[in-house]
Amino acid sequence: MVTVGMALRAAVSALEGSESAALDAQLLLAKVLGKPRSWLYTWPEQPVAASSARDFEGLIRRRAAGEPVAYLLGSREFWSLSLRVSPAVLIPRPETETLVRATLDLLPPGPQRVADLGTGSGAIVLALARERPHWELHATDRSQEALEQAQGNVRALGLAVQLHLGDWLEALPACRFDALVSNPPYLADSDPHLLQGDLRFEPRSALVAADDGHGDLNRLAAAAPEHLGEGGWLLLEHGWQQGSAVRALLRARGFVAVETRCDEGGRERVTLGQWPGAAHG
Ligand SMILES: C[S@@+](CC[C@H](N)C(=O)[O-])C[C@H]1O[C@@H](n2cnc3c(N)ncnc32)[C@H](O)[C@@H]1O
Repeated sequence: MVTVGMALRAAVSALEGSESAALDAQLLLAKVLGKPRSWLYTWPEQPVAASSARDFEGLIRRRAAGEPVAYLLGSREFWSLSLRVSPAVLIPRPETETLVRATLDLLPPGPQRVADLGTGSGAIVLALARERPHWELHATDRSQEALEQAQGNVRALGLAVQLHLGDWLEALPACRFDALVSNPPYLADSDPHLLQGDLRFEPRSALVAADDGHGDLNRLAAAAPEHLGEGGWLLLEHGWQQGSAVRALLRARGFVAVETRCDEGGRERVTLGQWPGAAHG
């Protein structure tokens, strides 16, 4: 008979070499048993049914082969939300909360119309919807599968977001927005990180952009003014070494009040700029 404690010890040894072996094993066993993680600490002597032990071993084998824990669990925490994720979408990253915070900081709390471009699981727009339920929120993605995943999260969380399938801003309705926010693909296709960790399993179309990683950032900066109201904001997440290039890009396109916000690790992560007009002195 296998107990909870025995199953966890065997899993940690199978995952040896992974920094998060103990945590991964606990999360996966808690999922298989349908219990909170704290239950595992309280009941290490509880027997694990043979079928659950087999399911758990299967998940541990996949994790040992590198599959991201978020895909094995089918969910990831972002902001204050539990989001469903599948291999059709990027796994939301904690750095992206910088973009959510910057948007909440910049816009006055009254009614606003905001679009999240390339929404994936819906992480950014759903965090905004949770914090500002009275905003008119839109989100786009070029991937039908990603948009279905976002739709599932919108429904599961009971939040109001209008979703649109299509290429960047072309998918949006013909109206002006108070802010356009995006975490677009920004890696060069030669980036060595693509061969490491979770990135090996995530959709390339969510990660890689043309022109050495700058292609989608350029396209968004070029197209945004057509869809921004006077004084509207564009906020772009980017790689930590792309800050100065994105600041130069936004200034060259005519944006003002351009600045970069750092993530929790102190790395340049989100560059924003305001479309000049009445709201800008
Ligand atoms: C880096 S992921 C970001 C996903 C999500 N916003 C997040 O932060 O977790 C980029 C997303 O942009 C989408 N995308 C890529 N090219 C696009 C395009 N031309 N038009 C619309 N969406 C696009 C991808 O499908 C992917 O979902």
